[in-house]
Amino acid sequence: NTTKITIAIDGYSSTGKSTVAKQIANYLGYVYVDSGAMYRAVTLYAVQNNMISPEHFNKQKLIDALDDIHLFFKFNPKKGFAEMYLNDKNVEKAIRTMAISNLVSKVAATPEVRKKLVQYQRQMGENEGVVMDGRDIGTVVFPEADLKIFMTASAETRARRRYDELKERGDDVSFEEVLKNVQDRDHIDTNRKDSPLIKAEDAVEIDNSNLSLEDQFNTVLNLVKKTIESKERGS
Ligand code: CDP
Ligand code: CDP
Repeated sequence: NTTKITIAIDGYSSTGKSTVAKQIANYLGYVYVDSGAMYRAVTLYAVQNNMISPEHFNKQKLIDALDDIHLFFKFNPKKGFAEMYLNDKNVEKAIRTMAISNLVSKVAATPEVRKKLVQYQRQMGENEGVVMDGRDIGTVVFPEADLKIFMTASAETRARRRYDELKERGDDVSFEEVLKNVQDRDHIDTNRKDSPLIKAEDAVEIDNSNLSLEDQFNTVLNLVKKTIESKERGS
């Protein structure tokens, strides 16, 4: 199959975006880009350099240091997806802790941070054959994407899924803490001035509260196949 498309998957936290994005990318041999990992890596850098804590955020200090933050993805064949590196260190695990989840939306609301990351994201999507997930992929990063998906599920369902995941990883968290984090991030992400989380007009909305991973994959794969067919016929 020679016709390649760009797929943008946006939505609320823990709706299953990255799970389905990875499955689709593996199925089609596309590149998967986890844009949230980049915001998390910048947040980790800010934490490590005392620029942010639950009590304060020295935004200017972070903005001044942006040129010192080098991010890249490196494919891990064992895992089947690309892992996040921050200044040559693999931070895939370090960026997924509750501490980072509790600060990332503040960092992500900073326009200078977004500008830097969006530039990098567009570069990675230059050659089509890409699936990228995040909050502003269909609206800001790739407004011309061939297929846009907007994922939703109830906050309780999402928090339950994320809680199970964190527990499995050995993180000592309570369900209430995870639910609060999911709700706080939804609030900050939808209300920020720069690139708020919003469904693109031409995005297909999928509520997966009651969909299994398999159902969800098949629903998205059908949309992908239709999009490729119509691109082959059309342009
Ligand atoms: O996986 P999860 O839904 O928990 O979050 P994520 O995709 O890793 O994103 C973490 C945070 O990064 C989000 O809550 C947003 O604040 C920010 N983000 C963003 O602003 N724009 C994106 N394109 C992706 C993530
Ligand atoms: O990327 P995002 O934050 O949107 O979510 P994810 O990391 O792909 O999914 C969060 C968790 O929910 C994972 O453990 C998924 O396996 C699970 N999930 C599920 O059980 N059923 C779904 N339909 C979607 C996600």
